[in-house]
Formats: sequence, structure tokens, C-alpha cells
Amino acid sequence: MENQVFVMDHPLIQHKLTLLRDKNTGSKEFRALVSEIAMLMCYEATRDLPLEETIIETPMGTAHTKVISGRKLAFVPILRAGLGMVDGVLEMVPAAKVGHIGLYRDHETLQPVEYYSKLPQDIDEREVIVLDPMLATGGSAIDAITIIKRSNPKCIKFMCIIAAPEGLKALTEAHPDVQVYCAAVDDYLNEIGYIVPGLGDAGDRIFGTI
Ligand code: PRP
Ligand code: URA
Repeated sequence: MENQVFVMDHPLIQHKLTLLRDKNTGSKEFRALVSEIAMLMCYEATRDLPLEETIIETPMGTAHTKVISGRKLAFVPILRAGLGMVDGVLEMVPAAKVGHIGLYRDHETLQPVEYYSKLPQDIDEREVIVLDPMLATGGSAIDAITIIKRSNPKCIKFMCIIAAPEGLKALTEAHPDVQVYCAAVDDYLNEIGYIVPGLGDAGDRIFGTI
């Protein structure tokens, strides 16, 4: 699991995460922070994108330089809370396509229930980064990735902001080929499946539906 999970301890990410966790942070600021953290995480999660040589003319002469080569990206937020991360990652990769997977956790069983799925048609030519701020039991991420795998993407990464140890274990066991990027691994899941200390219900805090 160690080689598969990347915890991003960059000071800018950690500082913003502290503000995000604070129960006194309102929806407007919360949304902005989720987006900013996603943007910073995307920088690291795309570190291994391959480059190729190109030649361009600058105002001063010819430059032998680099561009991202053939491999293209798609971001797939898990609805609802994953939507909060989309603007931030698109700031970094504006040409990426965006698919959507709709899942919610049944509050009784904690099992994910699928209600929507729309992926880019050419997803088999793309690397996919799945977005969801919270990895709790791991059920939603595991199911979303299973759905996406049916369309044969080149590879899949999963990006969350806070992960529970239980969710990390479940996800890395279910999908050992998927790299996981997070900003923190918290202490535990409580009896109703919330991450402690976590930040509460991410979807409710983003959309003000508490
Ligand atoms: C939250 C969160 C994840 C899921 C994580 O979504 O955004 O999708 O829970 O929990 P799990 O790892 O135990 O599956 P929720 O079901 O609350 O739906 P929402 O985003 O629509 O609020
Ligand atoms: N989903 C959330 O939004 N928060 C949690 O702590 C767990 C699941």
C-alpha cells in the first residue's frame, strides 16, 4: 500500500486543510478552499505525465522545449462533493474532459447507491483522475472506479482530500493498480461512517445543505 498512496504534506495544502476542517468556516470559504487544495494536489498528481520535445520561435530565437505528449486527461468527480474539486483541477489542465459519476451513501447501510454516470466517449484514450474530497469506508471510490474501468481508460488515479485508514485499506485492496493521492490520513471512522476528526459532511458544507 505504501507505494500506492501519496500523502501530500506541502505546507500550502496543510494550511488550507486546517482552515477547511474548522467548523466555523462557512460555505463560501469552504468551496474556495476545496478548489484551491484540488488545484495544488493536481500539480503533484500529474507529475508523471510524459513530455515530448517540440521547437517553437520565441521573440528572441528558436527554443527546443517540451509539451505534454499524447496522453490526455479526464477528471471524474463523484457527485456531489467531488464537484467542488473540478474548478481547481481545470485551472491546471483546462483541456481535460470531465465525466461524472453519481453515487450517494445509504445512511443506514453505508453502501454506495449509483444514480448517474456519464463519461467522455474517448475515455479509453485518457488517463482518469477520480475526484472526491472524502474517502471514508471506501465504498463510493471502489464502486466509481469499477464503473470507470468498464470503459477501459489508460490508467486511473484517485484524488481525495481526507482519507480514513479503513477506506485506504479497502480501496488499495480492491484496486491495487490505482494510485491514491490525499492531503491527510485521519484517525478512524466513527460508528456512523464519518471520518474523525475529518471535516464533517463535505457535500453539505460545499453546497450549504446542512
Ligand atoms: C460522501 C463523500 C464520498 C462518500 C465517502 O458522499 O463525498 O462520496 O461520502 O464515503 P465512503 O467512502 O464511505 O463511500 P455522500 O454519500 O455523503 O454524498 P454527497 O456527496 O452527495 O453528499
Ligand atoms: N462523507 C463525508 O462527507 N464525510 C465523512 O466524514 C465521511 C463521508
